[in-house]
Order: sequence, then structure tokens, then C-alpha cells
Amino acid sequence: MSHKLLMHCSYFFLFAFLNVDLCRTDWITGVRDIHTVYKNGYREGKVKAVNVALNNKSYTFQLTEDLEIQAFGSISLDCTSEVSCNQLNYPEPNQDGQCIDGYIIVEDSYGSQRIGCGAMKFGLPIRPSRNGRDLYIQVKGKSLSSQCTITCGETRTKNSKDYYTLPSNRHSGIFETKRCTCGRKNDGAGGGSPDHIVGGRNAGEFEYPYMASLVSTGTSSNICGASLINDRYVLTAGHCSAGVVNNPENYQLIFHAHLLDLRRNGNFLDDDVPAGSYGSIKEAKGYNLPTKTDADEDRLRLNIEKAVIHPLFYQNYQRTGAIIYDVAIYKLERRLNLVHSEYGRLSTMCLPKLGTSSFYDGDSMTVIGWGRPREDAGASNRILQELDVTIYNQTDCRQQLGEDSWLHVSFCGGFPEGKRDSCQGDSGSPSVHKVGKNHYEQIGLVSWGRGCARAGQPGVYSHITELNEWIHHTTQDAVWCSRPQST
Ligand SMILES: *[C@@H]1O[C@H](CO)[C@@H](O)[C@H](O)[C@H]1NC(C)=O
Ligand SMILES: *[C@@H]1O[C@H](CO)[C@@H](O)[C@H](O)[C@H]1NC(C)=O
Repeated sequence: MSHKLLMHCSYFFLFAFLNVDLCRTDWITGVRDIHTVYKNGYREGKVKAVNVALNNKSYTFQLTEDLEIQAFGSISLDCTSEVSCNQLNYPEPNQDGQCIDGYIIVEDSYGSQRIGCGAMKFGLPIRPSRNGRDLYIQVKGKSLSSQCTITCGETRTKNSKDYYTLPSNRHSGIFETKRCTCGRKNDGAGGGSPDHIVGGRNAGEFEYPYMASLVSTGTSSNICGASLINDRYVLTAGHCSAGVVNNPENYQLIFHAHLLDLRRNGNFLDDDVPAGSYGSIKEAKGYNLPTKTDADEDRLRLNIEKAVIHPLFYQNYQRTGAIIYDVAIYKLERRLNLVHSEYGRLSTMCLPKLGTSSFYDGDSMTVIGWGRPREDAGASNRILQELDVTIYNQTDCRQQLGEDSWLHVSFCGGFPEGKRDSCQGDSGSPSVHKVGKNHYEQIGLVSWGRGCARAGQPGVYSHITELNEWIHHTTQDAVWCSRPQST
């Protein structure tokens, strides 16, 4: 049954105005051909992503064309990706020692890398540094009759003499400044009453200084949520992002917003609400409030330079319709100044520490978003909503969803009785976990669910600790704010 539902969701990409049921976005702006997306999303369609370690299988590839392979491990399987190749033959480096015409680059998320060309012999498998799990292997040019194998190395405690570890102090790959801190929540002015999306409560005005809304250029109606994670990038859901990858100029991000517009004209409001039946809109928080301009709310509206979707999202989605690795990164048109001019109004959300794998069974997290107030509501909430939900353990989650393969990179949040949940329009929105006094970490983002707030159907969230290496790898030129001195 679940498989059918999952397949149903795949129509989302292929046809307009079908299934907004599973993916938690109302974003359906036209027909999207997944193959085109695949092609444009990655360098000329020559990227292959393989998930070796989750399947715990090895993957062998021939070095006969330009290729980028990404291998992912999983801490829950206690294994680390590693790559070994037989002899490679690339053109010799130039006089400056640079590999120009052909090379292999093996990198990890920490910025450690090894570049090789000329005639090379791999004596030992290469592993990431510092307990990393992911390896990114780029190959340029042919190296005929050579092949490499990516495997799930046995355990991370294995004797380091048995493999070549990428140099960890080459450069950190992560630039962090102590001049700003992440993970802060502002005191909400207005809203924030203790009763606490579906069944949520109004967030305080500008309570969440990292929260962003994805909108069509020039509009102020929410498509998906996103969170600011450093001075240049936001994090959102993969399934929000096919159109953004292809045409980033058609989309913008709005920061420092509280009251957005209802969606009209060419969006779901006109198509989804039965004629004469606008009753459900009235449940949308703030449906009758006057429109606010960017200036009214002192919003910051930024263009998107480029969007990147996790390569394994398409892979799995195309093959099976499964929504996993549901994460994307958007690069903003410019760096934000989080130390001076923009600090105060905006700040970043902390991510869990790179290299950690955490489950949060039974804990509470807060999910924030402008999504619908009810599964069948005709509109999103206009006022940003917040809701505390309980995180399910993996056994429970698996039992509810009837599937297990995605649970390394997703988790469930909600309540057995339903009633309160994230919903369409919340996709990509962050869910945050309290770490200390005014110190939060983003541990999830809204991915999908069967309906909204149904009993026995928790919301499914992308699991940030399991995606963190890719997030860091994809944002290597960013400056991160440091974590608060936790109390
Ligand atoms: C994964 O493969 C390694 C090496 O073949 C093996 O030692 C380990 O037991 C496997 N782990 C699982 C969870 O299957
Ligand atoms: C998972 O959560 C359920 C419900 O809270 C509980 O009954 C069960 O014992 C938990 N299982 C594990 C393995 O923690």
C-alpha cells in the first residue's frame, strides 16, 4: 500500500496539479521532466551517485568518462566509505605539478582531498578524514582499463595502517567565526501563547531569525520553507527544488517575514478550492489580515544563485519513488553580513556537529512553517506557525510507515492520535531541537506525510545528522556562525 502511495507522489514531478497529498508542498507550478532536472541539476548529467554503504555493497566503476561518484556511508551500520582503484594512467602533471588534462580527486566533507594524475598506483584504500563517512570522487578524463571500487569499510576503529586517510589538517573546510552565533530564538513579540501548520500556534513576530520562505519572484506567498544555515546558503527539501534548479531566477527567498500573502492567480488557491467554498481558508491563520509589503516587515528578499539537490534524492526517486535524501541547498546571490549590518534581524540556525549521528527518540522538537492549517484547507497559513511534536523512535516509525529503507536518513515526528502535524506548504521548513538555553539545532526538515495530522500517520522529516556531510560538502565556501557557549 505504501508503495502505491509513494509512486503516486512521483506524479508530482511529472504532471501539474496532481498529488499534493504526500509531499508537503503546494508547489506545483508546471510540468517537470525529471530527466531534464537530472541533467541540469548536475554537471551535464554525468554525475552518478551511489549509496554504497547503506546497502553495504561494493560498487565498481570503470574510469572511461568524466564522472563524479558520491559514496555515502552510514554510522548506523558502523561503516565508512572507502575507495580503492587499480593502477591509473592519467596525463602527467604540468610543470607546476598541477593535474590538468585528467585526474582523480577524492574528497570528504571536511575539505580534505587527494588529487592524483600521471601513472598512479593505489596501494591502500582511501578513507575520509576525522570520522567522516562520505567520499566524493571526481574523475576527469579516461584512464583506460582502470577501475575503482567503493566499499563500505568494516569498522571505523580498524587499524589506520590498512588504509590511506585523507589529510585532515590540509585545511579545515569549515570556516567558523566567533563573531556571530547560531541557533538563537528571539523573544516573540505578540503570539507565542502557550497553547501552541495543523494545530500549531502563531509564532512570535520574528521569533525565528533563520526562517525563510521560498516564493515565486516578486510574490510573497509561500511555496516551501527554508532555513539559513550560514552566511551564503539555505537548507530546504529536495522535492521543493526541481524548478529552482532549472530556473533559479523564477524564485526568491524572503527572510524576516511573519505575515505572508494568500496564494492566488495561477497557484493552488484558485485550483484547489471548490468554487464558492472558501470556508476552509478562514482556518488559515491571518487569512483576513491586510497585506504587508517587504518594507512593512523589514523583510530581506534575495535571489537564488543556484540550487543543488542531493544526488541520491533523484536516484531513489527515479528508481522507486521513495522520498529519501530529501534535502537541497540554495546558494544566495550574495553573502549575508551576520556580524554587522544584518545581524539582529537575521541569524543562522546551528546544525548538529559534523561527524555525529544522533537519534532523538521521544524528545520534542519544534517545527516552524507557513503550511496549511488542515489537510484539506484551501490555503496556507499566512502567519508563521510553530508546533512542538514528539520524535518517534525508529521501530515505531517503521511500524507506522510500513517501510524501512529510508529510516537512516528520515525520522518520524508527530502524535499517535494525529491532530497536530506539519502539512502542505511546510516542506523544507526546519524542525529544531533545544540544546541549551536559547540554543537550538536543526535536526530535521519537513519532507512528507500521508495527509496531515491523521491518526497513525506521523510526519516524516529528513534526518539532518545523516545528511550533514553532504550539506557541508556543498557549502564549502561558507562562513558559519559558532555555537553559543552552551549552558
Ligand atoms: C558490511 O560489510 C562488512 C564487510 O563485508 C561486514 O563485515 C559487515 O558485517 C557488514 N555489515 C552489515 C550490517 O551487513
Ligand atoms: C519505541 O516507542 C514506543 C512508543 O513510545 C515504545 O513503546 C517502544 O518501547 C519504543 N521502542 C524502542 C526500541 O525504544
